[in-house]
Amino acid sequence: MKLADIRKDYTLRSLDSAEVPKDPIQLFHTWMQQALEAEVSEATAMCLSTIGSDGFPNARIVLLKGVDQGFVFFTNYQSAKGNELEKHPKAALTFFWPEIERQIRIVGEVSKISEEASDTYFLSRPYSSQLGAWASPQSQVIGSREELEQQQLRMEKQFLNQKMKRPSHWGGFQLIPNRLEFWQGRPSRLHDRIQYEYLSNGSWKITRLAP
Ligand SMILES: Cc1cc2nc3c(=O)[nH]c(=O)nc-3n(C[C@H](O)[C@H](O)[C@H](O)COP(=O)(O)O)c2cc1C
Repeated sequence: MKLADIRKDYTLRSLDSAEVPKDPIQLFHTWMQQALEAEVSEATAMCLSTIGSDGFPNARIVLLKGVDQGFVFFTNYQSAKGNELEKHPKAALTFFWPEIERQIRIVGEVSKISEEASDTYFLSRPYSSQLGAWASPQSQVIGSREELEQQQLRMEKQFLNQKMKRPSHWGGFQLIPNRLEFWQGRPSRLHDRIQYEYLSNGSWKITRLAP
């Protein structure tokens, strides 16, 4: 099968201007709920794009862990993405939900969440993931898999007689959006695209974009 011959027509749903709320976060919650109901695989997985130190974009998947003011995810603050966000606190998030033929794109400013909120989430994680956060120098070059497993064992021993706590190099970021786009696949490539842009008066400008 040639890759160029792979095609899919999108027919499942539509995005009418009449059903678009004033607040994009409300629409995000509705779409996330529908993704969960449709049992979309890894619905909370999103592509996080940052600005690399070499000026090139850098993208990888992280998991969305909450949405209130901003879109919250957790990571190692000393990882490539952590350093990049420290230097350029702007990023993009992209969700793709093939089962319901939808994409959401979000752009905004990124900041660290409070230490307390990071502590609370860290302590809610499975014990093995907590140890992993201590053991793994995320994005650093390591000699071998064994080195990592040895470090995990060392951490396991260390925390046998010590209360678990969050490493200070690990925690949450939140992205406060200033632009969002909701994409619904439609037949004949005439997809629906609704964009929200944040205005200085605190409201959202809503426009329809050509597919
Ligand atoms: C489905 C999935 C979920 C992931 N979730 C996270 C996450 O929530 N936080 C995280 O730091 N890395 C997560 N990763 C790993 C990242 O994609 C990436 O490999 C890692 O964070 C290092 O990225 P960096 O070197 O650009 O900082 C996930 C990967 C996949 C495939």
